Amino acid sequence: MSEGCSITVNGKPVRVAAGTSVAAALMNCGEPCRFSVSGGARGPLCGMGICMECRAMVDGIPHRRTCQLICAAGMEVVTG
Ligand code: FES
Repeated sequence: MSEGCSITVNGKPVRVAAGTSVAAALMNCGEPCRFSVSGGARGPLCGMGICMECRAMVDGIPHRRTCQLICAAGMEVVTG
């Protein structure tokens, strides 16, 4: 069984356990996924790909649903 991997969140290295979703990794390090138009911090709500509240940029692709992505070595996540 894999022991996990490292990703970056807003340029900072974050170590995660194998099978961790990107949304969980963001929650574990206290980062909101994005901010609403009124400035409110937003994070995972449904956890199953429906609500879109967990969107963030992953590997340069905006608006990825982080609850539907499993962390992979070297993945770059940018929130906000
Ligand atoms: S938490 Fe709802 S789509 Fe990801």
